Amino acid sequence: MTHETPRLLLRPWEDRDAGQLYSLARDPRVGPVAGWPPHKDIADSRRILRDILQTEESYAVVLKETGAVIGSIGLRRDSDLASGDAEREFGYWLGVPFWGKGYMPEAAKAVLRHAFEDLGLETVWCGYYEGNAQSKRVQEKLGFTFQWKTQRLFVAQMDEYRTGYVNRMTRDEWSAIRD
Ligand SMILES: CC(C)(COP(=O)(O)OP(=O)(O)OC[C@H]1O[C@@H](n2cnc3c(N)ncnc32)[C@H](O)[C@@H]1OP(=O)(O)O)[C@@H](O)C(=O)NCCC(=O)NCCS
Repeated sequence: MTHETPRLLLRPWEDRDAGQLYSLARDPRVGPVAGWPPHKDIADSRRILRDILQTEESYAVVLKETGAVIGSIGLRRDSDLASGDAEREFGYWLGVPFWGKGYMPEAAKAVLRHAFEDLGLETVWCGYYEGNAQSKRVQEKLGFTFQWKTQRLFVAQMDEYRTGYVNRMTRDEWSAIRD
C-alpha cells in the first residue's frame, strides 16, 4: 500500500533502496537520538532493510519532486508500548538534509489517518528520549498527549540508560483534530 501527501509518497521499502538508506542512516545525528546506531556499511543497511524495514505498515518516505528516499515512517505492532490488534507504536526518522521543512508532520498525518480510518486502531503510541526536542515538537504538533516518563530506561541497541517520554493518541482524539 502507498500513501500520498502534497510533497511525499509513502511506499514499501524496496531492495534497491539500500544505497539511499545507507547514505541517510550512516549519519550519527539520525539513529542514536532515536535509540539505534548509525548503519556501519551498505551490508548493514541491507540487513536492516530486510529484517526491520520490509515489514507491514513500514514505509519509505519519498520526495515526489525528485524520487529520492528521505526517511522512514511506520506503525509497529507488539512493541514495548503497543499490544493487541487495536494498538500500534508510531516511529519515524528523516535524513539530516531534510529536517526542518515540515516533512515529518506531513507524512505523519497521512499515516495517522490510515491508522485510525483504514486499520481501525484505537490507540497509537509514540515516544522520544530526553533531549530530542525536534521529535517532542513533532509529536506535540500532531496532537499526541503526554502519558508518562520513565527514568533509567535501558536502550538495548545503544547499551545505555536514558529517560523516556511516552505520548499517545486515541481514535477519539484523532477524530476531534483531523482536517
Ligand atoms: C524528528 C524529525 C523526524 C523531525 O522531522 P521534521 O520534518 O524535521 O520536523 P519539522 O520540520 O516539523 O521540525 C521539527 C520541529 O522541531 C523544532 N526544533 C528543531 N530543533 C529544535 C531544538 N533544538 N529545540 C527545540 N525545537 C527544535 C523545529 O523548530 C520544528 O518546530 P516548529 O515547526 O514549531 O518550528 C527529524 O528531526 C529526525 O529525523 N530526527 C532524528 C531521528 C528521530 O529523532 N526520530 C524520532 C525518534 S522518537
